[in-house]
Amino acid sequence: MAIIVALFVLCAMFSGTYADPDTLQDICVADLTSDMKANGYACKNAENVTAADFVFDGLVKAGMTNNTMGSLVTPANVQKWAALNTQGVSMARIDYAPGGMNPPHSHPRATELLTVLEGELEVGFFTTGNVFINHTLTKGGIVLYPRGLIHFQKNNADVPAVALSAFNSQLPGTQNTAFTLFTSSPSVSDDVLTKAFQIGSKEVKMIRSKLTPKK
Ligand SMILES: *[C@@H]1O[C@H](CO)[C@@H](O)[C@H](O)[C@H]1NC(C)=O
Ligand SMILES: *[C@@H]1O[C@H](CO)[C@@H](O)[C@H](O)[C@H]1NC(C)=O
Ligand SMILES: *[C@@H]1O[C@H](CO)[C@@H](O)[C@H](O)[C@H]1NC(C)=O
Repeated sequence: MAIIVALFVLCAMFSGTYADPDTLQDICVADLTSDMKANGYACKNAENVTAADFVFDGLVKAGMTNNTMGSLVTPANVQKWAALNTQGVSMARIDYAPGGMNPPHSHPRATELLTVLEGELEVGFFTTGNVFINHTLTKGGIVLYPRGLIHFQKNNADVPAVALSAFNSQLPGTQNTAFTLFTSSPSVSDDVLTKAFQIGSKEVKMIRSKLTPKK
């Protein structure tokens, strides 16, 4: 009992000492070359910070959608844009060919707001209660994807679509549901997939070969 109380007090002390959920400086432009990692990146030296650090044109150009899914996500996260370090936000541009889809995936570290810039998109997600929520958004419409839930967008129209997403994390992380399970490295045993999906090894091999990026 005394040990549990002591542990509790210790935890309280430490969380009081260390936990500050807010940033402690105005800026901390990431030094992406530093080996120091502290739940983010070390700050670049102040004298080397310039106005150019705070603007990003990586989302100006349309992404190539001539791939299997007919879509491309172009991220503007801390790895692409060092100024986001410690700021708790990031964005992404998504381009969709007619019929293209950004396949089911989740972001473990962020809630997402996606707005349609061009065209229209079916925007669906699944709750932990296994409820499917979907809607078709037209230009200017916004959907909220709650943190961590599996979601997708599909362009059911015969013209291209473009969307812009905002995240409350500098590095939301993405787990693509199908790719994670069928193309991980090293591969998960076929038994796991045949049982999980109630399919045969033949089907597992077929899905693996279709999802594995062609070299
Ligand atoms: C600042 O930038 C210059 C030129 O890029 C570089 O040589 C120098 O090491 C940098 N200084 C710091 C403190 O990072
Ligand atoms: C997509 O198109 C571009 C040029 O239009 C080409 O360079 C690229 O190889 C194509 N990619 C695929 C996967 O076909
Ligand atoms: C939502 O999904 C259902 C299938 O469950 C589909 O029939 C319907 O067209 C979708 N609705 C929208 C608005 O995309």
